[in-house]
Amino acid sequence: MAKTVPGKQKAAKIVNIGNLLKEKRTFTPPPTFTKQAHARTKNIYRTAKSDPVGFWENMASELVWKKKWRQGLDWNPPDAKWFVGGKLNVTESLLDRHITGHTRNKAAIIWEGEPGDKRTITYYELYRQVNKFANVLKNLGIKKGDRVAIYLPMIPELVVAMLACARIGAIHSIVFGGFSPESLRDRINDAHAKMLITADGSFRRGQILPLKHDADIALADCPSVENVIVVKRGDFLLRIKEGRDHWYHRHMQEAESYCKPVYMDSEDPLFILYTSGTTGKPKGIMHTCGGYLTGVYSTFKYVFDIKEDDVYWCTADIGWITGHSYITYGPLANAATQVMYEGAPDWPDQDRFWQIVEDNGVTIFYTAPTAIRSFMKWGRDWPDKHDLSSLRLLGTVGEPINPEAWMWYHEVIGGKRCPIVDTWWQTETGHIMITPLPGVTSTKPGSATRPFPGIETAIVDENGRPTTNGGGYLAVTKPWPGMLRGIWGDRKRFVDTYWSKWPGMYFPGDGAKIDGDKYFWILGRIDDEINISGHRISTMEVESTLVAHPNVTEAAVVGIPHELKGSCLAAFVTLGNHIDINDKLIANLKDFVVRKIGAIARPDRVIFTPDLPKTRSGKIMRRLLRDIAMGKVMGDTTTLADPDVLNRIKKRYEED
Ligand code: PRX
Repeated sequence: MAKTVPGKQKAAKIVNIGNLLKEKRTFTPPPTFTKQAHARTKNIYRTAKSDPVGFWENMASELVWKKKWRQGLDWNPPDAKWFVGGKLNVTESLLDRHITGHTRNKAAIIWEGEPGDKRTITYYELYRQVNKFANVLKNLGIKKGDRVAIYLPMIPELVVAMLACARIGAIHSIVFGGFSPESLRDRINDAHAKMLITADGSFRRGQILPLKHDADIALADCPSVENVIVVKRGDFLLRIKEGRDHWYHRHMQEAESYCKPVYMDSEDPLFILYTSGTTGKPKGIMHTCGGYLTGVYSTFKYVFDIKEDDVYWCTADIGWITGHSYITYGPLANAATQVMYEGAPDWPDQDRFWQIVEDNGVTIFYTAPTAIRSFMKWGRDWPDKHDLSSLRLLGTVGEPINPEAWMWYHEVIGGKRCPIVDTWWQTETGHIMITPLPGVTSTKPGSATRPFPGIETAIVDENGRPTTNGGGYLAVTKPWPGMLRGIWGDRKRFVDTYWSKWPGMYFPGDGAKIDGDKYFWILGRIDDEINISGHRISTMEVESTLVAHPNVTEAAVVGIPHELKGSCLAAFVTLGNHIDINDKLIANLKDFVVRKIGAIARPDRVIFTPDLPKTRSGKIMRRLLRDIAMGKVMGDTTTLADPDVLNRIKKRYEED
């Protein structure tokens, strides 16, 4: 019998298959696209299926290795070692190999700041900057295996900083610039980072984000950090702590221009990236050099069908896994030219993205369903003002895309000619797992279609057996190169969270269904994590934050559907005695969560209740709370003043 995952509450009802089988539209790849694509026939699936490890070994052999591996895979569940015995430095595949020949002066990054400033960085220039900055890190005492925290906006120095770490074997841990000082502090301390790289500030919707100021608050309680490097993004006010803080540009001026790469074992860690967990504490997901690079390199090549002349743009922030894999590592390993943009899509106007596509002749565009829903809401006049004819391929990631948004993307942005790749994957999987191949796979709006070649997924029941009705839990049934190798410092949590539900199979935490064509339809999280605008937030983390507020005695947080964001948070809060309920308190509680975690965790709704409805065994009845928050049982209410009402509904639910 399979165990349930410790720490997880009973999964909500996962599938309402009936509704989801209604989508019947199918789009075949345009023949002109197929003709020029890297993958033109289904053979690639067959080859990979007959020998998945051999398939990945072939992919790995397109990268630069100092020493070839002696074994493709060593699988001892849940521990995988890929390309065993191989040695490499990932930056050689991303940079060194591109600085000879025609890619030397090719644009690697075409960057645009929110205020409109622009920079184009060639492969040679990026190579030089990475080498120099690697020397800066070395001079400040960073060595192989040290953790370096990075808290930077979307500026080219962020790419330089991560690759400089990789050059010398240091492990980067990037914290999204929108996270609060406390979130930054917790991540720095969990990883025992020796250094922090940040910037004086950044721009977002014309406002200044005071990154260094926030970092200083975090650093007051981060004893492991010895040095802080500060990139100067603008003329922002800041305090420099002598001896600890260093200006990036000053050190770069003096740095030697070549840094010998440190060769790493294929299985040595490349980076840690924190993501939500079902307990309050974020998990430091660990990725390694050889497998991760092979995964992102090959998926980028085949899913985005990258070609010499393409101009690719992924709108994610590098602070999330999408940016790690499909801004930094995947595109650079493929010598792609890409656009990188610092700011918001609606600044100064709601056509900023389309202006960027037009100005740069973007050919491949990768964004999140949340963004697409916002574009829909803003209206097609904005994209229609621009020439988007350069686009040839569109992608989505981060959350399920509703068929209406898919169709809008297809028609309005893609002019009905661009295939759409809906890519399912996770921080933990490292790279794309379920996706169409744009020249091969017919698409259906709302389905991520089928596993990438070399990947095996299934829909199973609670006991890990394939389901008969098409719906159930998504599982990954075979190891893959980019799979997480652990949670930093917490072996038990790694095993419990991902590997104890079914023996030898990976549990991603998503519900899904499979249709008659063996297409996968991802239905969303089935645990306590809520996907808001494509980002994972743990309801437990928000709950423990709320109860830390002096006026709150108990809190329960649930996810409810949201028109644009996919889901949003509703917080049920029980207050201490004699606390007045008013709008100020609601605003205060929301701000409190933002200050402690970051803006993405702001609850949309705060509902006060004298008591939380619990089962006889003391479990909070989240389904009831969700229905209340959605107005299903009580209409729109911010205060559940009468405990009797709550009790009556509770009883009805218990009888269900
Ligand atoms: O629920 C799935 C959803 O996002 C989760 C992973 O979140 P994160 O680790 O932050 O990585 C996001 C970017 C890769 C998954 O468990 N998700 C991601 N992509 C899709 C998706 N849900 C449906 N369709 C997708 N294409």
